[in-house]
Parts: sequence; C-alpha cells; structure tokens
Amino acid sequence: MSSTPEPVVQVLLDTDWASGSLVADVRRGLGGRPLRLPPKWLYDDEGSRLFDEITRLPEYYPTEAERSILATYAADIAAACDATTLVELGSGTSDKTRLLLDAFAEAGALHRFVPVDVSEQTLRDAATMLGERYPDTTVEAIVGDFTLHLGHLPEGQRRLVAFLGSTIGNLYVEERGAFLGALADSLAPGDWVLLGTDLVKDADRLVAAYHDSQGITEAFVRNCLVVLNRELGADFEPDRFDYVPLWDAHMGRMDLRLRATVPQTVRVPGAELVLDLAAGEEIQVEISTKFRPAQVARELGAAGFEVRESWTDPAGDFAVTLARLT
Ligand code: SAH
Ligand code: AVI
Repeated sequence: MSSTPEPVVQVLLDTDWASGSLVADVRRGLGGRPLRLPPKWLYDDEGSRLFDEITRLPEYYPTEAERSILATYAADIAAACDATTLVELGSGTSDKTRLLLDAFAEAGALHRFVPVDVSEQTLRDAATMLGERYPDTTVEAIVGDFTLHLGHLPEGQRRLVAFLGSTIGNLYVEERGAFLGALADSLAPGDWVLLGTDLVKDADRLVAAYHDSQGITEAFVRNCLVVLNRELGADFEPDRFDYVPLWDAHMGRMDLRLRATVPQTVRVPGAELVLDLAAGEEIQVEISTKFRPAQVARELGAAGFEVRESWTDPAGDFAVTLARLT
C-alpha cells in the first residue's frame, strides 16, 4: 500500500516556543512607554484557533474578499509567473492557498511548497493536509519567523513568495520597509512576490471587522495576556482590561489596544519586569494597516519589486498584487 510521505518540517524557532525572543520583545515593548507587544505572540494554539474563527465571522470581510480574488485570478497568477517553488509566509492553515496550488497543479510547473509560520501545530497540520492533497508537490514546512528567518528560504529554483491575508499590515511602516528589503535580499532577480493587502474603506466597516458581535476578536487580542501569564509567569488579570479597537484615519490603520480599567501592578517574572499601570493606560497589541493601491506599489518598489498586476474583488475591499524582483 502506498502512503503519502510525511512533510519535511524544519524548526528554526526554539522548541520552547516562547523563550528568547518573547523575553526580549516583552522587555522592549513593556519596559517603557508606549506599551506595545509584537503581534506574533498572539498566535499560540488558542490564538491560531481564534484567528481561524475570525476568518469565518460575518463582519470580517478580508478573508472572503481575498479568497474571491484568488478564485478568479489564480490561473492568471500561475500563468504569469514561472515559479517552481511556492513559499508562503505566515501561512496559518493555508486554506486560501489551495486555490493557488490547484492553479499551479493545473499549469504543471510547481515542484515544491514551503509554508512558513511561527504557529507550529497549525503549520504541521496544514503541511500534512497539503502533502496528502498534492502528492506531486514536495511540502517543506518551516517553523520560523518571517522577520528573522528569510535567509533560510530554499534556493536554486524560481520562487513565488505569497504573503496573504494582509498580514504585512500588522507590521509598522518601518518594519514593512525592513521586511520587504530583507525579502528582496533573500530572493534573486526574477523571483516573484504575491502580496495580499486590505484596502482603506468606510470606518464603520473597519471597526465592525475588529469589534465583532460574538467577541471573538476581543478574545483573540486578550489572549496575548494569557500567553504572557503562561510563558513568563506574569499575573495579568484579563478582566481588568477593556478591549479598545480604534480606527486611526491619520495613520490609516486599525489600532487594537487593551486599556487598564483600574490602577494595577503586574509582575512578569520571566522578563524580570514589574509593570505599574495607571487606570486608562493602554497596551497596543496589534495594528492592522489598511492600504491604498499606490502605497502598495510604492512600498514594493522601494524594495526593488516591480508590480506586474494587481487585482481587487468587485467591492474593491482587498487587493492581491503580483510583483517581480528587478
Ligand atoms: N495567511 C493566513 C493566516 C493569516 S494570520 C490567511 O491569510 O488567513 C497571520 C499568520 O501569520 C498566523 O498564522 C501567524 O501564526 C503568522 N505569523 C504572525 N507573525 C509571524 C512571524 N513573525 N513569522 C511567521 N509567522 C507569523
Ligand atoms: C492576520 N491579520 C492580517 C489579521 C488582521 O486583520 O490584521 C489579524 C487580526 N487581528 C484581529 N482580527 C484579525
């Protein structure tokens, strides 16, 4: 009886998921003001599960908007690029990516799929599922951080790097510049990038997408305190914080915060930190930048990527941009 080979999984993060860089991030982010945490720590198993629920919420339009673009244009994308390796950064469940993999399978050129994510179990589950579904494509998953480990992407073949879901919008503008620069450094001229970006729209719809009626997004954001309690022995009491999702029109981004409802002292022994919070003080947990198409082209261009084509859904909510490293 033939069986599908186990996918190859390369682990670049410490096996102790949260050691090392969590401590550094918490010291940097909570050691002064403004109080800020990098969003990658939202994605422990529970955070990944909650994000998956978010993608099915009626208010959270980005996933379906991007899916509709990929459903319509995946064949054009596969035809436009000569990639034989598809890399996916922040791949999560790789659910929408199957539309791309189907189109590449049809076109017959793809040999290898390399999903990259910090969330190990979600990545392993996705890699196993994809290995079974695409037996002619080698799945080589990387448990890694796309802000640290781009130097480990496979070499020697024409690559397409997909970065979907508008996850790039969770980076601050200077982080986006550094990320795209590092991505360009890790690729060769002629390699491709496929970037999903959520677009600026009516503030009410944006706020609703991050303040859903079932409270799933709130639970997702609050989960970062649970992560700090578990991984660093912190004593955050999540009930002593309000969830505050704000649309910052000037910066063009959603700004997701937790606001202390009462004065409190929080101990974070794993980071040797004691945090004195006044009532009303806020921890910025995540930003979600909303883009204009020209801005996407400008940011890609600054890193040396030339836009080949950009597609939007019929409502103009979301964009998927194909660009090539010059
Ligand atoms: N691409 C999927 C998932 C988006 S959620 C989609 O479009 O629906 C963001 C994903 O990026 C999560 O799976 C999270 O674990 C991952 N992630 C967040 N920060 C990361 C980082 N610095 N390096 C690698 N993966 C990261
Ligand atoms: C993964 N990322 C693009 C999501 C977003 O919309 O910024 C994360 C998220 N945060 C709250 N809801 C969804």
